[in-house]
Amino acid sequence: MSEPILWQPTDKQSEFLSATEDEVLFGGAAGGGKSDAIVIDALGAAFDGWKNPRYRALLIRRSFPQLRELIDRTRVIYPAVDPGASFKEADKAWEFSSGAKMIFGFCERDPDVYQYQGQEFQWIGIDELGHFPTAFVYEYLTSRLRSPDKSLSCYMRATCNPGPKWIMQRFGITKGGQASLVQLDVEGRIFKRRFIPSFLSDNRHLEGTGYRERLLQLPDAERQMLLEGRWDVYDVPSAVYKDEMRQVRDDGRIRPVPHDPMLKTHTVWDLGFADYMSVIFVQRGPDGVLRVIDYLQDNRKPLDYYIRAMNAKPYNYGTDFIPHDGASKHFLTGKSTKEVMEAMGRNVIVLPRTDVDEGIKLARMVFSRAYFDDRKTEGLIEALQTYKYGVNGKTGAYTQPVHDDASHGADAFRYLAMCEGQMNNGDWGSQKLTYPDMGII
Ligand SMILES: Nc1ncnc2c1ncn2[C@@H]1O[C@H](COP(=O)(O)OP(=O)(O)O)[C@@H](O)[C@H]1O
Ligand SMILES: [Mg+2]
Repeated sequence: MSEPILWQPTDKQSEFLSATEDEVLFGGAAGGGKSDAIVIDALGAAFDGWKNPRYRALLIRRSFPQLRELIDRTRVIYPAVDPGASFKEADKAWEFSSGAKMIFGFCERDPDVYQYQGQEFQWIGIDELGHFPTAFVYEYLTSRLRSPDKSLSCYMRATCNPGPKWIMQRFGITKGGQASLVQLDVEGRIFKRRFIPSFLSDNRHLEGTGYRERLLQLPDAERQMLLEGRWDVYDVPSAVYKDEMRQVRDDGRIRPVPHDPMLKTHTVWDLGFADYMSVIFVQRGPDGVLRVIDYLQDNRKPLDYYIRAMNAKPYNYGTDFIPHDGASKHFLTGKSTKEVMEAMGRNVIVLPRTDVDEGIKLARMVFSRAYFDDRKTEGLIEALQTYKYGVNGKTGAYTQPVHDDASHGADAFRYLAMCEGQMNNGDWGSQKLTYPDMGII
């Protein structure tokens, strides 16, 4: 009589379990059987790691309660694989009959990872890699992969729902979340990083449980991430404009927004000569509709580089709005940004300095009137989606917005909210501001 089968991989799980690349990320959508797969993979399933007395595996989650879930799963599965296996609760570690070990760990804060300093593992896995906002813990752990035994290779494994940018970059994941492979040549040794997407539909064990129907009721962005495995709608939990950007998406206001030659194109700048310069190109249509048609972001370039890039575009320009620091004189040239831009033929208005929180409040109110060009303003959309509050490590309370790659575009948008009332299309009537006709139509 054959033994009852306790756990049999789905086809997608088999693909993950038999993968030989140095680093493999399994996941994307929810319910594809990721956690189950990584728990089995930790056994060194493909090469019988658990039968080798020198095999050491480390399986990490962000927090201890999350880890509990995985431990419970191994309590069901591992003794069936190796009846001699025993779990040491104090160490949170499995010891197999060969002497091989599988250790559970969590890294709530980045420096927690130093507890593994000086240790070596042949298999390291992270379940829910997306809970790590930066690459720090993952990269540090790769340095703990080392094998004393030539018959044991080293593997880095992880699972993830669509998550932070660094993960997409590391594994070369596309917005649609298709399978991908990145190859790196390090002094002749080729390192491979592979992404294997999995979907709920790959896991028949959740069929007919109502789980799919529950996911179908989620708001658009979550549904697209968790059911369709899309990576371009990733939600940052402390994102400042989370609700506003969700509304923009739900309304279908990210779409082609062509330049309308009948309307002036105004620009709003966040100035950064040492780091990022961000320029938003916007047209104000009837009823205060804001047509965000283009976006320019670059770093460490001189001012004339941006002006030339703008002049090369076929836009009918109105005013360039720059923040308060645009009025200060540069210590080397003795000229302000405003003066330099004006000398290059631009119409410039310097905005007053305002409080960041007030600016954010104003910005929240203009989203409902904004349309974003889906191609040309991608960088801005990304910035608005990921601009986030800092989080107090102890209390979990939100603090000031974080200054990072996303904050420049988001700052420019905040300035846009301050000055959009001053944007017009040339026919002034009784209004105070007048614009010279640049005659570029
Ligand atoms: N190969 C399998 N055999 C039996 N049950 C499975 C298998 N793969 C996954 N499951 C079950 O399906 C459910 C979802 O799997 P899980 O690994 O938690 O998904 P994910 O981590 O991708 O959300 C769990 O109840 C899990 O035990
Ligand atoms: Mg899981």
